[in-house]
Amino acid sequence: MKADADSMTWKTGEHTGVSEHMLLTVEQGKRLIDRLEQKHGLPMAEMTALIDANCPKLRDYVRLKAREIGDRIYGKNIYIRGLIEFTNYCKNDCYYCGIRCSNTKAERYRLSREDIMACCREGKKLGFRTFVLQGGEDPYYTDDCIVDLIHQIRTAFPDCAITLSIGERERESYERFWEAGADRYLLRHETAAESHYQKLHPENLSLKHRKRCLWNLKEIGYQTGCGFMVGSPGQTSEHLAEDFTFIRELQPEMVGIGPFIPHSDTPFAEETQGSMELTLYLLSLLRIQQPDLLLPATTALATIHPRGRELGIGAGANVVMPNLSPVGVRDKYALYDGKVCTGEEAAECRNCLERRMESVGYHIAVGRGDHRNIDF
Ligand code: 5AD
Ligand code: FES
Repeated sequence: MKADADSMTWKTGEHTGVSEHMLLTVEQGKRLIDRLEQKHGLPMAEMTALIDANCPKLRDYVRLKAREIGDRIYGKNIYIRGLIEFTNYCKNDCYYCGIRCSNTKAERYRLSREDIMACCREGKKLGFRTFVLQGGEDPYYTDDCIVDLIHQIRTAFPDCAITLSIGERERESYERFWEAGADRYLLRHETAAESHYQKLHPENLSLKHRKRCLWNLKEIGYQTGCGFMVGSPGQTSEHLAEDFTFIRELQPEMVGIGPFIPHSDTPFAEETQGSMELTLYLLSLLRIQQPDLLLPATTALATIHPRGRELGIGAGANVVMPNLSPVGVRDKYALYDGKVCTGEEAAECRNCLERRMESVGYHIAVGRGDHRNIDF
């Protein structure tokens, strides 16, 4: 590969025996970040180099830029979403996930429609105007069931947004849920690189199908969220650069990212957890690439650092998603080890988060917190 006019220095395949990487100085890194800000995307090789260049100086540079951009669009508002983890049954067997079907140690539960409505009522009282119905891929909840549930929530809480996060379904199902009144859909793509996808998932799951689901959701009209884990086994900077390229194509309204954290009863039990610094760096780069994104500071980030969520906000995130599920089932929705907030009541988390956001100069906004389309 040739050096371009910016006289980058290149580490070639010949020298490393790995892939062709640019080595950036801090100044060159800053110039790439400026270019990402202007063009809202970088070519693969440059994005890879920028991700590789993750260092304290560049992290500071992206963090300040990301926060400035976020504040310009969303002010000091942090949106809250009430997460209702209504089933931990899952027909899939993703190697990283604690509720994978092969994990016989997972204690399974399902919430009834009445339980779910009670969570929403509690959430409404606490100021939530978005409910996120999240679950494993559980065929027990047929399309008819989900449609009924959406109708019921839509009728009881007409001013609240309904977000679904129930995995891959047929386009027709997504259309029915949309017609029933769902507004948003979260479906992390997990990794946009085909070979890496296969390392994380069994053969019956495919990145192609995952992406097709995301495109369907966008086309139907959902505010759509994709996302990936940071530091999942086998992940390289190129893979992450592919995530950025995919996000640039899809133009989702939301992107959820958090560190990979091993779960002791999965094939990845002995793998290393993802780094907080890299997660924060990537959050900032996402804010710069696509300024109007809704970006959560995730529970996984809070799990690997006591001030993870605050640091996430400081890096450019603008959403937090505390749990509204009944405390009795909280610790059963164990995607990874050590998940925080499994013992706290919804009201405690709500207050705790308020204080945490205030501590970094932000406040929780009561409102649906819809995506804002900005010309950038
Ligand atoms: N560590 C971190 N995140 C995980 N998820 C699943 N398992 C893990 C894990 N071990 C994430 C996936 C999924 C989301 C609901 O949680 O990205 O899409
Ligand atoms: Fe749950 Fe602090 S956010 S206890």
